[in-house]
Amino acid sequence: MDSPDYSRLPEQVAERVGELRALIEYHDERYHGADSPEIPDVDYDALMIELRGLERDHPQLVTPDSPTQRMYRAGQSTFDEVAHRVPMRSLDNAFNVDELRAWSDRVLRRLTSERKDDAGGAPKVTWVCELKFDGLAVSVRYEAGVLVQAATRGDGRFGEDVTANVRTIDSVPERLGDGAPSVVEVRGEVYLGLSAFTTLNAAQEAVGAKVYVNPRNTAAGSLRQKDAAVTATRDLSFWAYQLGEVVGGLKPTSHLQTLGWLADLGLPVDNHVASFESFDDVVTHIDAVEASRHDLDFEIDGVVVKVDDLATQEILGFTARAPRWAIAYKLPPEERSTLLLDIEVSIGPGGQATPFARLEPVFVGGSTVTAATLHNADQVAIKDVRPGDVVVVRKAGDVIPEVLGPVLSERPENLAPWAFPTTCPACNEPLIRSEGEAATFCGNHACPRQVRGRIEHFVSRGAMDIEGFGEQRVDLFVCEGLLEDVAGVFDLDYGRIISWEGFGDTSVDKLRRAVEASRGRPLGRLLFGLRIPHVGTTVADLLATAFGHLDLLELATIEELEAVEGLGPVIAASVHDWLRQPRNIDLLGRLRSAGVNLEGPTLNSGEELASLLAGMAVVVTGTLVGMSRDEAKAAIVARGGKSPASVSSKTTALVAGEGGGSKRLKAEELGIPILDEVGFGRLLEQGEFLN
Ligand code: IVH
Repeated sequence: MDSPDYSRLPEQVAERVGELRALIEYHDERYHGADSPEIPDVDYDALMIELRGLERDHPQLVTPDSPTQRMYRAGQSTFDEVAHRVPMRSLDNAFNVDELRAWSDRVLRRLTSERKDDAGGAPKVTWVCELKFDGLAVSVRYEAGVLVQAATRGDGRFGEDVTANVRTIDSVPERLGDGAPSVVEVRGEVYLGLSAFTTLNAAQEAVGAKVYVNPRNTAAGSLRQKDAAVTATRDLSFWAYQLGEVVGGLKPTSHLQTLGWLADLGLPVDNHVASFESFDDVVTHIDAVEASRHDLDFEIDGVVVKVDDLATQEILGFTARAPRWAIAYKLPPEERSTLLLDIEVSIGPGGQATPFARLEPVFVGGSTVTAATLHNADQVAIKDVRPGDVVVVRKAGDVIPEVLGPVLSERPENLAPWAFPTTCPACNEPLIRSEGEAATFCGNHACPRQVRGRIEHFVSRGAMDIEGFGEQRVDLFVCEGLLEDVAGVFDLDYGRIISWEGFGDTSVDKLRRAVEASRGRPLGRLLFGLRIPHVGTTVADLLATAFGHLDLLELATIEELEAVEGLGPVIAASVHDWLRQPRNIDLLGRLRSAGVNLEGPTLNSGEELASLLAGMAVVVTGTLVGMSRDEAKAAIVARGGKSPASVSSKTTALVAGEGGGSKRLKAEELGIPILDEVGFGRLLEQGEFLN
């Protein structure tokens, strides 16, 4: 969010300060009070940063109740109030390494100036790094080792009594282990793990209900349920990271000891804790955490750096909001807001019509996002996002970016709701949504988008793997009327292609050879390439191995299909049905005439593969289309064969690509079989070649 320059107009500064405070209070309430934040954290942080900057430049405007000076002030709550005997403070943030280093410098400076002894040199500090869990802070009180109360942070002094809800969390023990003091308050984060979140949303989607936006808000909403039985269904978890009030018992002297003690008492302590003497190592560690943040089964939004020694923490003390001895380094945001330019519908290879958002480019989750999925018609309606809205976009790791929802407080007046189109944007035929189904479909098998999608899938890596047959070429060939279905791949009019700009002799020849090579792919690849509903690579391989030939698969009854280990009735019926549709019978007939391999079995067990070429010596020469020479040799060795550099009487076969002159002559001389790329493909797949 950009902020205007108010530096020269004091009344406008005061006005903006008032506006920012009101906005921050509104968003505080949405985040803490309603568990339903409207803007991403990064936008909230930007408001705070702007306010802090204005207050710094105009100190006369600072008031004690400014959000920069105090914690969130809770509104009305339906839960009982709990007074925190030790306040629950928040953390200050660092948004980049400079800010982080500036904090460590401040710590060291303060320690130097607070020094009571006259020891020289810089103070020594051990820094502890913990993950910053993205959940909500909770304080759990144990008396005589028994859980007696649990409370949210609230405004830091008074929280909400969520004891019954916290008792439903498996990882929060009811009783502590031996050595528990008479009173111990454990501070930590309640969160929803990613797998639990996915399971929950799958269940929501299955009944056409609104999917939850992100794990944090869901965790917060789940914990603050009036009925703890609802909380119990949400599979929440807890990480302990700090102590509140402690009466009696052992007193740790360092933060690391505290964590060890908490773990000994039976509390869940995350093991990604690291301590460093050098701040450079802290920075390196943070980089490593950032790189591996998606390996975790829970979300983090930063790394918390704490001063280890508790006596040193005491010297450093607190500001009104946060400790001086800790800071939260914020990782790059995975949710950001941007303008929704338009909603369009894409048509998948199976005809599925998926709404997606065209967005003003926004850098989020490590890349610039210009489009994001909206899943299906119901989700657009439930979220009520409209072109012209500011929307929150989420992109975490390699996951497809998605639109979470609109920022309603920024919606322009009279913005029209969006309606799902009634006709296919690619072929204009009606879009169909069956009763009880979430998905909408274009039912026109000849829809150009579907045709392209089917061919793109057929030639793709996991299927027939035809090199040089990318999306652009598929698009071109379909547009030019050269390709109507997947069988057309084997009947391309190369004479026409060669006359087009951008297609020289060499590239057309390469394409032709790649297509030729693909004819020999095993049956499993072909079956997968046909996009039979419910047939992924594993099922395709199972079918190929079980029936051994397409002819036999075509004859199989539903019972025979169901009898294949790993196949259920749904898949069996789907395959049976697909093979009996006239258009597919025709397609298979044409693939058959094109000389495509229809024989199984495929190899899918590592063990089988490792000995497939045992005892064979296969020499490779010339340039192959589908793989480099080194890859070809590696493929032979991976199958237990040898790949010597020269041809001799012991050579089993010579694989000859383009330009393999002298070795070919030698092989011919010795009567050694010479394989082209198709033959080599067969050898790699089946361990044999045609002589
Ligand atoms: S320590 C007095 N450690 O981040 C210090 N907080 O933005 C108390 N958080 O309110 C906090 N992981 O809800 C601490 N390892 C961690 C944390 C952590 C997540 C949360 C906590 C806190 C918020 C501040």
